[in-house]
Amino acid sequence: MTNLDPYSLAEQASNELAKETGVVNHDVALVLGSGWASASDEIGVISAEVEMAKLTGFPAPTVLGHRNLIRSIKVGGKNVLVFGGRAHLYEGHSVDTVVHGVRVAVSAGCRSIILTNAAGGLNPDWSVGQPVIISDQLNLMGNSPMVGPPPPEGKAIRFVDLTEAYSLRLRQLAKEVDPTLPDGIYAGLLGGAFETPAEIRMFAKMGADLVGMSTVLETIAARHLGVDVLGISLVTNQAAGMSEENLDHEDVLAAAEDAGPRMMSLLAGILERL
Ligand code: HPA
Repeated sequence: MTNLDPYSLAEQASNELAKETGVVNHDVALVLGSGWASASDEIGVISAEVEMAKLTGFPAPTVLGHRNLIRSIKVGGKNVLVFGGRAHLYEGHSVDTVVHGVRVAVSAGCRSIILTNAAGGLNPDWSVGQPVIISDQLNLMGNSPMVGPPPPEGKAIRFVDLTEAYSLRLRQLAKEVDPTLPDGIYAGLLGGAFETPAEIRMFAKMGADLVGMSTVLETIAARHLGVDVLGISLVTNQAAGMSEENLDHEDVLAAAEDAGPRMMSLLAGILERL
């Protein structure tokens, strides 16, 4: 065990990453949500692959649909750092562990981060398989990477401005690639279980268009470190109580896998324009 602060721990992991991949500087990070893993298979030329849990601070993913793999992929002259999975609060990890990948990516040089996820849709107009650009978020996890000891010297103070949590520039760029993409507000929940229909009705009143169990903490950590965030949700199911269907993680994964080719070309288009 180590008692390094989480930022130094991230720096250590990024040094290991540089050594393992032979790529000293990365430009953009891409975090793949549940079922999204195959979306990076053909977005560019894979320079290196590293087992995620080999690097300091990364637990092995326990959630089906996540890959224990970090890839360095060359896309249009940029080095893209791809995380094949992520850690969630509901797995029992600390907030620092959940946002570790983001901090490592920033330490590795990334100035933009694309966070993807699978989400339940609250907008009845959206069908399963619809990608949605996240315009803003509701952090309903009851925690934040800005809780705890103050960030160490040299890092920004904790009171991070979240007025433009999701970069307008990156959202516009994504819409250049696919002008049909709608915007939505993502509610990040602690999860572990899916929501009840009553909770979904409450979240709809709060302004949520999408519900999921990730992303919001990573966005806060990324903004704290001054990098731009693009969030993309894939609607893998109608939220609880909005259709006749019961919810099942297998269906979430199947819906994400079906959308794989579309997500891959969307991501490739965005990365080429960045
Ligand atoms: N709720 C929460 N998280 C999810 C859902 C959902 O309906 N679908 C995919 N991830």
